[in-house]
Amino acid sequence: MALNDLVTPHGAVASGSFGDSAAPRRLPTLTSVILVDDAQQLHNIGHPRVSLVLWRRRADPKIAREVAGLTTKRLLNGRIALSAAETQAQCMARLQGLLQESGIESAGFGWWLADMAMLAERFADLVTRTLGPSPITARVETLDDVACPRFHVDRTRLRLLCTYRGPATEWLPDEEVDRVALEGRQPNDQIQRGAQPRALEPFWVGLFKGECFPGNAGRGQVHRSPAVPPDGLRVLFCLDA
Ligand SMILES: [Fe+2]
Repeated sequence: MALNDLVTPHGAVASGSFGDSAAPRRLPTLTSVILVDDAQQLHNIGHPRVSLVLWRRRADPKIAREVAGLTTKRLLNGRIALSAAETQAQCMARLQGLLQESGIESAGFGWWLADMAMLAERFADLVTRTLGPSPITARVETLDDVACPRFHVDRTRLRLLCTYRGPATEWLPDEEVDRVALEGRQPNDQIQRGAQPRALEPFWVGLFKGECFPGNAGRGQVHRSPAVPPDGLRVLFCLDA
């Protein structure tokens, strides 16, 4: 999905940094979402109005080749607790262990593991700066079916999602959510008020502000899992604080 695909009838999704005067693409409507091309801008999630920062990353063919080797025969659903103090190398070793415990030989996944470890270290640093030192949970999943098809908010403070293969997470701008319908567990079409959900692209990083982020109760970023095509596989990495 290109930037233009994020344009709505009301205007474009904001892009850039609140602290960067050279980043003027903040339009008056979708003020809760920011598009960035640089991990240094992820810290904008701390702004009270922002509930989603999208870091657009190009797909890395080396990683794409590695995750193409994962199959539906053995689905992966592993999680580990990480401390904010763990280095990238330590995170990588822990993630390697997670694959091995799930019966997946980690030797063929070096680029993927390194990327997840890099994201874990960045996330830990951002969480520490935004919320103070906090435990972090890392989850690596392969899914052959839709996990959470209903629009919902997470009971987390911050969640980082990156889909490495298959369709990626779908989301709604705050301005298009019917929060009463959401809280009343009404059908998706009532929650989204006729608007089309947006979606991340594979390799993009989404930083989602949840209901438990200080001061964000009732304003958690609304999202859902995408449908997985028949015989398809989704490879998802999730970090929670
Ligand atoms: Fe969720």
